[in-house]
Amino acid sequence: MAMAVDSMVFFVAVALFFNLAASQSTAKYTNHTVGGPAGWFYNINTKKTSADYSAWAAKQTFNLGDYLIFSTNTNQTVIQTYNETTYRNCSMDDASDDDTFQYQGGSNEFGEAMTVAVPLTIEGPQYYFSDADDGTQCLNGMAFEIKVGHGIGLPPSLNQPPPPSYVEPPSTVEAESPPITVVTSRPNGGGVRSSAGSFLVVSILVMLVLHLL
Ligand SMILES: *[C@@H]1O[C@H](CO)[C@@H](O)[C@H](O)[C@H]1NC(C)=O
Ligand SMILES: *[C@@H]1O[C@H](CO)[C@@H](O)[C@H](O)[C@H]1NC(C)=O
Ligand SMILES: *[C@@H]1O[C@H](CO)[C@@H](O)[C@H](O)[C@H]1NC(C)=O
Ligand SMILES: *[C@@H]1O[C@H](CO)[C@@H](O)[C@H](O)[C@H]1NC(C)=O
Repeated sequence: MAMAVDSMVFFVAVALFFNLAASQSTAKYTNHTVGGPAGWFYNINTKKTSADYSAWAAKQTFNLGDYLIFSTNTNQTVIQTYNETTYRNCSMDDASDDDTFQYQGGSNEFGEAMTVAVPLTIEGPQYYFSDADDGTQCLNGMAFEIKVGHGIGLPPSLNQPPPPSYVEPPSTVEAESPPITVVTSRPNGGGVRSSAGSFLVVSILVMLVLHLL
């Protein structure tokens, strides 16, 4: 009898564990479509935005690992900045590469549909705007601020360590080290690369937990 209860407890525990793992991998991060169904658009004739982006943002809860999905076309731009001055100025002309990024749609033509997915990888305030039409889009409301909370933290796919730093070969006499390319640390870069590795880590963890039970 004791054996039967034991193995039942064991199976319930295993079932709970997998249930938890499954629900965590699906329901924990949110994709926020900017502006809701109206998307991220500006009408150059009426000078109106298709949604009130500040009002939209105020109704959302943003956490690490969530995405902003900009459903738009190439007549608008998607600029992310952590610098409030850049945001208030509606321009990235004087912005630093360290705190301001433009997400590209991959087309130079006007009016081409594009969808931009921006992962939220840093806690705290951050700002978005479109600098198209020399900043008038932004001045007329193509801009909003969000505050990113911790939530359950970044998923492994967005939480990659920075690449190892460049080590000067011992033989070279050059004193100057080459500029460090920061492209790989951009939030959008190569999130897929580590998924095989993280799968392995998860598998090992699962095996460990099962072993302990
Ligand atoms: C959220 O968006 C990202 C990036 O486009 C995508 O990989 C992911 O599957 C989306 N998640 C959901 C639940 O739609
Ligand atoms: C604001 O942007 C304009 C160009 O749009 C630029 O001339 C000016 O220097 C910027 N000001 C600041 C404080 O960045
Ligand atoms: C924000 O960007 C401006 C240039 O536009 C720069 O002068 C300022 O130092 C930046 N602020 C922060 C907090 O980095
Ligand atoms: C995009 O902008 C171009 C140039 O201003 C304009 O001719 C075109 O109608 C716009 N397309 C859309 C879909 O807004």
